[in-house]
Amino acid sequence: MKAQKFSIFVIIVVLLFSLPALAADESEMPGKKIFLKFKCNSCHTVINESITKKASKKKKKKKKKKKKGAGAPDLSGTGANRDMEWLMGYQKKKIKIKGIKHAKKFKGNDDELKAISAWLLSLKEPPKEASK
Ligand code: HEC
Repeated sequence: MKAQKFSIFVIIVVLLFSLPALAADESEMPGKKIFLKFKCNSCHTVINESITKKASKKKKKKKKKKKKGAGAPDLSGTGANRDMEWLMGYQKKKIKIKGIKHAKKFKGNDDELKAISAWLLSLKEPPKEASK
């Protein structure tokens, strides 16, 4: 049966995708902590790393629409599309996407920027589910 084969395929793919995530949990990379420390998740999600959007002010007013960081992509698959140099340059606002600089200039030191970029670089799987 075609449908059955397909669902087996889906299960295998899901398992394959979840293995690296499980392994990563044991030795969490410093870049992930730095990502959270600098509140990158006020705009970005990283679905594959269970990072969801966090309101910067603890849900005081529940504003509808016009959320902060509208249009900020999920960063789950960043490592598949970018390299270290690009990531560091972009966060320092030296590199642009289609003529537009990043919304936020990185405020940490070079080590933190390297750690965060290395972590993003390690994320090569596209988001498992839609971020929006
Ligand atoms: C104020 C909202 C905001 C914050 C905070 C923010 N970003 Fe972004 N970021 C964006 C938007 C919007 C884009 C998409 C820009 C575009 O495509 O022109 C983006 C794009 C990116 C990209 C490029 C993704 C790609 O490959 O196309 C990376 C990497 C990134 N952000 C990393 C970070 C990191 C790391 C932090 C925390 C230090 C951070 N961002 C904080 C809004 C934000």
